[in-house]
Amino acid sequence: MRKITIAIDGYSSTGKSTIAKQLAKALGYVYVDTGAMYRAVTLYAIRKGFVSDTSDNFTALVEALPNINVKFVHNEELGFSEMFLNDENVEKEIRSLAVSRQVSKVAAIKEVRTKLVEMQQEMGKEKGIVMDGRDIGSVVFPDAEFKVFMTASPETRAHRRYKELLDRGDDVTYEEVLKNVRSRDYIDSNRKESPLLLAKDAIEFDNSDMGLVEQFERMHNYALRIIEKE
Ligand code: DC
Repeated sequence: MRKITIAIDGYSSTGKSTIAKQLAKALGYVYVDTGAMYRAVTLYAIRKGFVSDTSDNFTALVEALPNINVKFVHNEELGFSEMFLNDENVEKEIRSLAVSRQVSKVAAIKEVRTKLVEMQQEMGKEKGIVMDGRDIGSVVFPDAEFKVFMTASPETRAHRRYKELLDRGDDVTYEEVLKNVRSRDYIDSNRKESPLLLAKDAIEFDNSDMGLVEQFERMHNYALRIIEKE
């Protein structure tokens, strides 16, 4: 059976990664969470003091880009890949609200995007990949055979994210999370470089009122139909 490329884009906390992981597993494809790559670069920038709530030095961050090495390392025990920043496992730290608060600014920098998009295209050049992000169907793989654009209301997404953060023991309020979801939606959709948009050949998928099993079944069936047609 021929392998295809599956691009899953959409707003933050729409459950892209959950579905993308399940789809990759069912099809025997590689899964790549591109948000983790932007988050790892952001973590580096926070640690070096290049970005914060009060001041940013994007020039220093761009100059430091050659020193930032991000890679996925498969964890056999857990059965999924974890993000490494310069050989340190940062999988947990990159999901914190502190990183979420700065990441949209970092992801809007042209040089950061150029570096990460190149890496993503390299990872997907053999196809057989499910990649999730914001610009996968529009910029990274405009020729992807299956493009999905996931949406859900900001409140639904904030509830999901709030629960995840509480489960990991983070000290946050629902209002803070909702504010972050709204502000990231705005920055991600209005930035100059590769804004989040619905590619014209993508299927829009609103999962506000849909359970995981139904979402997976629909997407899986859709993917199989495309693969069989190829
Ligand atoms: O999917 P996520 O919430 O982990 O993504 C984190 C941020 O990275 C998000 O605010 C937008 C940005 N991003 C992007 O600009 N392009 C991608 N392909 C993936 C993520």
